[in-house]
Amino acid sequence: MAARPRLPLTKAYADPESRSARLFRRAQEVLPGGNSRMTVFMAPYPPYAAEGQGSWLVDVDGDRRLDFLNNYTSLIHGHAHPAVTEAAARRLRQGASFPLPTPEEIELASLLVERLPAVEHVRFTNSGSEAVMMAVKAARAFTGRVKLGKFEGAYHGSYDYAEVSLTSVPENWGPLAEPASVAYARGTPSAVLEDVVVLPFNHPEPACRRIEREAQRLAAVILDPVPNRVGLMPATPEFLRAVRDVTAAHGVLLIFDEVISFRVGYHGAQGLYGIRPDLTVLGKIIGGGFPVGAVGGRADVMAVFDPRHGRPAVPHSGTFNANPVTMTAGLAAMRLLDAEALRRLDELGGKLRDGMRASFTDAGIPGSLTGAGSLFRIHPTAREPMDYRSARQDPVESARLSRLVRYLLDHGVLVSPTGLGCLSTPMGEAELASFLDVFAAAVAAERQNASA
Ligand SMILES: Cc1ncc(COP(=O)(O)O)c(C=O)c1O
Repeated sequence: MAARPRLPLTKAYADPESRSARLFRRAQEVLPGGNSRMTVFMAPYPPYAAEGQGSWLVDVDGDRRLDFLNNYTSLIHGHAHPAVTEAAARRLRQGASFPLPTPEEIELASLLVERLPAVEHVRFTNSGSEAVMMAVKAARAFTGRVKLGKFEGAYHGSYDYAEVSLTSVPENWGPLAEPASVAYARGTPSAVLEDVVVLPFNHPEPACRRIEREAQRLAAVILDPVPNRVGLMPATPEFLRAVRDVTAAHGVLLIFDEVISFRVGYHGAQGLYGIRPDLTVLGKIIGGGFPVGAVGGRADVMAVFDPRHGRPAVPHSGTFNANPVTMTAGLAAMRLLDAEALRRLDELGGKLRDGMRASFTDAGIPGSLTGAGSLFRIHPTAREPMDYRSARQDPVESARLSRLVRYLLDHGVLVSPTGLGCLSTPMGEAELASFLDVFAAAVAAERQNASA
């Protein structure tokens, strides 16, 4: 049995006089709701991060937690990996950014082109959201069509079109075969809703029928093969094949959003499934922990960005695009992420999901796990979710998940409030064992709660 670090209570932040509590009070004076990034908000307030080292994150109140969230799956090598930190610091000492391109962007683009079968040319951005926006604009310019197809519940960042039907509910989601276009942000123009065709994830027949009906107006369909917000259930191979075939048959571009799923295979999810999208959107792990995004794909489509012959079809600027610190850190991180590192992560991920399933079964508490490779998501339900609608939780289930996540947070383990988590390469059997100990205790506490 691997030696396991024992995890102590980690709830100093919860004291109303903790540094985290005081920071949050100050934050509310200058940030709306004390918050600058919705994902990091937790009620009533989050612990504030001070530093990270490998698998561990230390908060400003001195508590250490095993970080199974890794900045929402971005830090595939955990915190402050020496090779990544040294590469970034070396580059930073030579200047942070320039009004000229740097050689590093060619290196990182080459690595991506080498790894991703469907990517011939790459363009960098500062976030996955921007990359999604540029992919959609590229598809529109290339096809001369306007509409975007997207799957119900799927998250692709903060671009208005990509946000449609992100949080549909039974009262407004409409029929499964033709999900309604539901605004996410108040004030979304009705034209945006009209130009988004919402599709049911993992339902090949109705999805393809709707794509066929709309094909003449559809520029692209955007698809995340392992969509976290849908429920992190991997797409079935038949579904992906059907969507690829129908889009190809009608000249609709298929955009794979691999911002998260790139970590499920050395050649991304597209390599695992053997599907060639026309465009691929990347982010998170390719920046080595720094802000990043990229859109890549077929050279003929990517030519919409080519400025050599005057103003391109899709002009694309960005003060910090391909900035050399991100490029250098990303290159170091991606080089470390070889096929063996991914194989090891996948194996650990499988064990972790199995261990969590066993905890639920042993305790007789309804719960299931989705995910792939080094990604997992905890569902507080006995059913195995297969699409957005089956993953939706009722209030009792949501409350159970919140208690589980809070128990983990207070006992040395960080996952997202929605139950999303992932592994990083510094983790091994010991970290897994510690996690599973705490998880089993969280589920046992839930059983007591249920019988109280
Ligand atoms: C699948 C997916 N696409 C796009 C994005 C947007 O990326 P960013 O947060 O870098 O804008 C995210 C972010 O979590 C994501 O998970």
